[in-house]
Amino acid sequence: TALPVVIIGAGPAGLMVANLLQRADVPCVVLERGTREYIETRPRAGMLEDRSARMLERHGLADRMLTESDTHTACEFRIDGKAHELNYSELSDGKTHFVYPQQEVVTDLLRQYLDGGGDIRFEVSDVELQDQLEETPSVSWTSSDGTREQLDCSFIAGCDGFHGVTRKSIPAGAVKEFTHQHGIGWLSILAEAPPSTEKVIYALHADGFAGHMLRSSTVSRFYLQVPVGEDVDNWPDEKVWSELHKRLALRDSDWTLTEGKIIEKRVLDMRSHVVEPMRYGRLYLLGDAAHIITPMGGKGMNLALNDAEVFADAIASYYHHKSTTGLDDYSAVCLRRVWRAQEFSQWMVDLVHRNEQPFLSRLGHARLQHLIQSREAAASFAHMYVGAN
Ligand code: APR
Repeated sequence: TALPVVIIGAGPAGLMVANLLQRADVPCVVLERGTREYIETRPRAGMLEDRSARMLERHGLADRMLTESDTHTACEFRIDGKAHELNYSELSDGKTHFVYPQQEVVTDLLRQYLDGGGDIRFEVSDVELQDQLEETPSVSWTSSDGTREQLDCSFIAGCDGFHGVTRKSIPAGAVKEFTHQHGIGWLSILAEAPPSTEKVIYALHADGFAGHMLRSSTVSRFYLQVPVGEDVDNWPDEKVWSELHKRLALRDSDWTLTEGKIIEKRVLDMRSHVVEPMRYGRLYLLGDAAHIITPMGGKGMNLALNDAEVFADAIASYYHHKSTTGLDDYSAVCLRRVWRAQEFSQWMVDLVHRNEQPFLSRLGHARLQHLIQSREAAASFAHMYVGAN
């Protein structure tokens, strides 16, 4: 019998691969460090591009998402207290965003995989990779009951996020790593507050960016631009709300921000990271294990799902037709989209943040004015933002 593919990590990347391999009759085993409850409740990204939604649909994985998600067609830029709506759907042949929290995507993917008889081991620790450059690599781990286990496999899918073990198992110098610090900090807030808006708000204020993102009818995500390395203790709840009120305020309008209990408060330094190539022998890296992107533009989960589909297709042609073309091309195909997304995300970061250098701040302002005034510029933005390609 054919050796299985070992998938390390049960986030969107790992579970998407698992479902696609299961549908393609390729044996696989998923190893996850956390518990089932942990992965099903961990709040992270929340936005599916049109093409990701279609991908889930194509594979019969979208049922709950299509009924439970909110579709979004426009976003709003607030500049100096004035609102400017950008209807990206109208500019991209009616394509929309689907607001559906990552933990719901994970919950659905896990349920489908288990219903199909899928093999997943939770609470594994000390995962180690061996012989990635050989014909038969292997993975060993300590299972939840403390026994050390080992499995020979055909391929290893490294889907264990940025802090996982798979990328770190690659010897120094065997892949190139590109890292960029954007020089911007974000205070990221999750609050039990119903949304105060129907569309995502990007506010450009003299004191820095503020964002109002949507998650569900009872929970909202907010971002505030803060200095890099800011201490979260400098941000008691009252200060968070007063700063959000100030930066999101509209002139000549009765719009108000609804407050709620803050359930998560973190400081993020905006950074990007890309590994090239996204493979080392029979180890393939997917999702955050291979690339980190800023949250600006909402591309992270979508890139992870794209990697998963490209990888699973390549594995299926290898298993069933002995074709290595897909596997050989995997990294280049994924990296084209990754770099395009990095460029877009960086462009959006520059668009809405206050830059310490006044000259660059003015450039951002000019770019935003152009986006608001030019239909061509808005259409180009819409195309990338909604994931129309
Ligand atoms: N062994 C086993 N599992 C591990 C290990 C390990 N050593 N390290 C991490 N994991 C698990 C984590 O517990 C998590 O469930 O791997 C999974 C990785 O999932 P994600 O971090 O969600 O990564 P990915 O599937 O690539 O999805 C990327 O995350 O940051 C967001 O915007 C990003 O939405 C995108 C998504």
